[in-house]
Amino acid sequence: MSSDRSEPSGLSQPTRRGFLDWLIALCSMATGLAMTIPGAMYLWPAARGGGSELAEVVGAADMAPGQSKTIQAAGKAVIIVRDRNGFRAYSAICTHLGCLVTWEGAKEEFLCPCHAAVFDKRGQVVSGPPPSPLPAYDVKEVGGKVYVSVA
Ligand code: FES
Repeated sequence: MSSDRSEPSGLSQPTRRGFLDWLIALCSMATGLAMTIPGAMYLWPAARGGGSELAEVVGAADMAPGQSKTIQAAGKAVIIVRDRNGFRAYSAICTHLGCLVTWEGAKEEFLCPCHAAVFDKRGQVVSGPPPSPLPAYDVKEVGGKVYVSVA
């Protein structure tokens, strides 16, 4: 009596062990990618859009000396201040617990309303709990327009 289970020559029958080997290899590759991609994005932040961005802020004539403007550039809150010498830009995020600072033009100080911190016009801590100054950004005035470079 002949068996109906015979296979054509040249084709191998899938085995449970072969399937498990394939599944383990697939899981290993997925795990390797899951561990490698975040490391690569940390090493090359520009790949995730964290590079420098030159953002147009305002027309230079639209901001009088003593005025400020808070904008968002590259996902960061930035405060632009104009004084007698030109424009300066700092992070608008307080280095204590992350509240938004405001510019007090008459005193030439940045104030944080959350815990009464005071930063001087260069972003240095004058009083309050912040552990570090406000990070500064580069500002350019080109053709009557103000640009800030947020890295
Ligand atoms: S968050 Fe600004 S002083 Fe606390």
